[in-house]
Amino acid sequence: MLDIETDLNQPSAHTALTPSYRIDTRNYSEKEYNKFVKVNTVKDWSSMKWKDIGRPFQVTSYAKEKKEWEVENRRELPAHTSWEMFNKSFHEWFVKDVPGEMDKTKKAFFTSLKQFKPADTKAAVGDLIKIHLWNYVHRIQDGIWDPRGKRALFEGLDVKAPRILFLGAAEGYEAMQLAALYPGSEIVMVDYDSFCKDTRYGEFLESYPFLGENPLTGSKKIYYKTDFPTEYVVSDIRKLGYTNEFDIVLSVGLLEHFPDELKAEVVEWHRKFVKPGGYMIMTTPRAQLRSKLYYEIMADVMNHTYRELMTLEQMGLYLYENGLDILRSGYIKVHNGIVAKAR
Ligand SMILES: C[S@@+](CC[C@H](N)C(=O)[O-])C[C@H]1O[C@@H](n2cnc3c(N)ncnc32)[C@H](O)[C@@H]1O
Repeated sequence: MLDIETDLNQPSAHTALTPSYRIDTRNYSEKEYNKFVKVNTVKDWSSMKWKDIGRPFQVTSYAKEKKEWEVENRRELPAHTSWEMFNKSFHEWFVKDVPGEMDKTKKAFFTSLKQFKPADTKAAVGDLIKIHLWNYVHRIQDGIWDPRGKRALFEGLDVKAPRILFLGAAEGYEAMQLAALYPGSEIVMVDYDSFCKDTRYGEFLESYPFLGENPLTGSKKIYYKTDFPTEYVVSDIRKLGYTNEFDIVLSVGLLEHFPDELKAEVVEWHRKFVKPGGYMIMTTPRAQLRSKLYYEIMADVMNHTYRELMTLEQMGLYLYENGLDILRSGYIKVHNGIVAKAR
């Protein structure tokens, strides 16, 4: 059953809770804008110094699945396999019937207490905390998809019917949100884990509404996955044969998975495929206390790979010192976001 809240000022706009996620087609008023995004808090990137802002926080509590693989195989988990593990694990959470799971884990907890099985109780408490945290972060707060924050971050680009390249696309959410804002977009999604094409994107709900623009009237319009012409390419980004042919090159949660010696290469992946004057958009998870707690509690679900949490200043400095001009920078609920062009 849907639990619907309608914004009376915008009759077509509403938010609704399904068992797995939130739908949110509410726009924000000018007054509300700062609730969803804080932009351009940094005025001068050229004077930013590493010694003043420190380096990112590295997340070091890893998933049990990664640790077990490494003990069994006596070597470090290869990056590609770690992404396959991550994508399967993360996808399972997006499709959960969250209220149903909350009931189930509560029952398992009381059963373990009644039977006085301390190991089961400990596991049940862990499950209970995880599902409640997921319910709050993803379903109630909509912190992961964050459509209002992302719309606020992505608005105002000078593009018409852009070609969008999404590097490390996973389920492709942000490219679809961009395509709704800029009608006539064509999307190319790239991920080297075929599960992303077949399942994470393949099974992404056709009924999920993306709020965007109607090019004919200039008013708001709802779009769906099937409205966006999309090609999904299963390939390593390093093997792509495109030239600098895209109006927008996008990545979400990619840069923070590479240590400093590889950051320049990751920035280059974006620059290489963007048209002269085109936009590069990147987001990374924020280094805030609640995110540190989230990655600690959700380690088994999320932490199969190298991962950093960074501030907007740290993220911006990586891009600035690797030759990008930062046009717009800001943070939304759980991510930093930067819109940049090549310098
Ligand atoms: C952390 S995920 C992106 C976050 C995403 N929004 C999500 O919901 O999972 C990064 C994605 O990049 C992909 N990826 C990492 N390195 C890649 C590479 N060299 N080539 C292609 N895809 C890559 C991974 O398979 C993964 O799906």
